Amino acid sequence: MMSHDMACKPALLTLAAVVISLLPPVTFATSPLGFRATITRAPQYPGNYSAAARRDGRRLASLSNATAGGARTSTGSSSRGLLQALVENGVGAYHMILSIGTPPLAFPAILDTGSDLTWTQCAPCTACFAQPTPLYDPAASSTFSSLPCASPPCQALPSAFRACNATGCAYDYRYTVGFTAGYLAADTIALGGASFPGIAFGCSTASGGDMDSASGIVGLGRGTLSLVSQLGVGRFSYCLRSDADAGASPILFGSLANVTGGKVQSTPLLQNPVARRGPYYYVNLTGITVGATDLPVAFGFTASGAGGVIVDSGTTFTYLADAGYAMVRQAFLSQMADVQTVSGAPYDFDLCFAAVAAGADVPVPRLVLRFAGGAEYAVPRRSYFDAVDERGSVACLLVLPTRGVSVIGNVMQMDLHVFYDLDGGAFSFAPVDCATL
Ligand SMILES: *[C@@H]1O[C@H](CO)[C@@H](O)[C@H](O)[C@H]1NC(C)=O
Ligand SMILES: *[C@@H]1O[C@H](CO)[C@@H](O)[C@H](O)[C@H]1NC(C)=O
Ligand SMILES: *[C@@H]1O[C@H](CO)[C@@H](O)[C@H](O)[C@H]1NC(C)=O
Ligand SMILES: *[C@@H]1O[C@H](CO)[C@@H](O)[C@H](O)[C@H]1NC(C)=O
Ligand SMILES: *[C@@H]1O[C@H](CO)[C@@H](O)[C@H](O)[C@H]1NC(C)=O
Repeated sequence: MMSHDMACKPALLTLAAVVISLLPPVTFATSPLGFRATITRAPQYPGNYSAAARRDGRRLASLSNATAGGARTSTGSSSRGLLQALVENGVGAYHMILSIGTPPLAFPAILDTGSDLTWTQCAPCTACFAQPTPLYDPAASSTFSSLPCASPPCQALPSAFRACNATGCAYDYRYTVGFTAGYLAADTIALGGASFPGIAFGCSTASGGDMDSASGIVGLGRGTLSLVSQLGVGRFSYCLRSDADAGASPILFGSLANVTGGKVQSTPLLQNPVARRGPYYYVNLTGITVGATDLPVAFGFTASGAGGVIVDSGTTFTYLADAGYAMVRQAFLSQMADVQTVSGAPYDFDLCFAAVAAGADVPVPRLVLRFAGGAEYAVPRRSYFDAVDERGSVACLLVLPTRGVSVIGNVMQMDLHVFYDLDGGAFSFAPVDCATL
């Protein structure tokens, strides 16, 4: 399934070099099986914390619905709300740079390990949100093809928004605020130095919302339509930078993806027992420590496939199922009893404190997540506790309650090299300065 420019026969290399000099600069990966692309932060990240929390809320509501529905919705409505939330408002996201077509057109897309379909806006576009790069024009790409309804990628599209007609494999996601509609197509996609022909993607010809300077979404989930599955690489890793200047950091695929060193922690990747083909990366969160208190939390699956914990780059903050969240909340409250609490409601957060304005360095208990297999993550303070208002007078726990599936979002993944080893069935991570990778 995987094809690659590095497969060029040696005899063609001289010719290739001449041709390449006429095209936009393309550098080749050092290994045909490994390649490296670039991640940047949305320009306003995390911007308005409140807006990001609201967006998360909508994404989570539908995500829980989808996973709780198990098999019925695993390929049905599961991605609907996730995409809705991203189209509606792209704040709080990270972007990956990829190129599409021949000649290649580079664009930033929201990095989403919680959905499968990669899509961008296509010309001619009847209604488009503003994007930072020119629209991809199928007519201008010599390698473009639309996909018929009977094609496997079209059949893999969630039936809830697939609408096959004479035009081909149309999709139509309509929501209260954001929407995107178009058709499934295939073209060459290039990441870093590597390029891959015939990758199925969504060509959106009508969309509404605000993607905060992204031109689409890149779906890195576990389902058959995801870019990871289509590339057939079996593993990838990335690093999300926390620094305000939002410099670039890498996402590594195939043989280049790994996390090494003495501090590497690993835990098995789980499958949802009911919805086996869904896009989500489940891990087994077996315990949480707040300060010196080990909490007896449990986030197992229910018989219907609800519950569990996923790692999701498309969600900003972290969300724990109600019972576990209540224990975490109580532990912070009792260990911060001398800090005045304030209502988090005006900021769309839950547990908030008022002490930052006075310049006091609020003492905050440490937070450690423990996973099956012995992996532990001592979360850096900025990834779970921060000021949420412009004046910096209110600081909140960046962990919120949810129903159903729990989600480790991108703030809690910052400054970690995270490694999704699909072939090996493991999720690994290690603290690192992303700029050094
Ligand atoms: C932040 O977003 C919330 C909800 O979207 C909005 O009510 C508020 O005015 C925004 N604050 C700023 C400073 O933009
Ligand atoms: C969740 O499912 C319920 C019942 O099917 C439905 O009414 C509700 O709109 C769904 N919520 C979301 C956010 O999809
Ligand atoms: C097929 O569906 C798409 C999306 O709804 C629509 O834009 C297009 O006009 C339809 N084509 C035909 C032939 O009905
Ligand atoms: C990743 O690196 C470790 C340590 O060097 C090695 O043991 C492991 O086999 C590597 N994993 C993969 C998937 O290459
Ligand atoms: C999660 O880990 C715990 C402790 O090792 C184990 O008892 C439990 O069965 C695991 N859950 C799943 C779904 O694998």
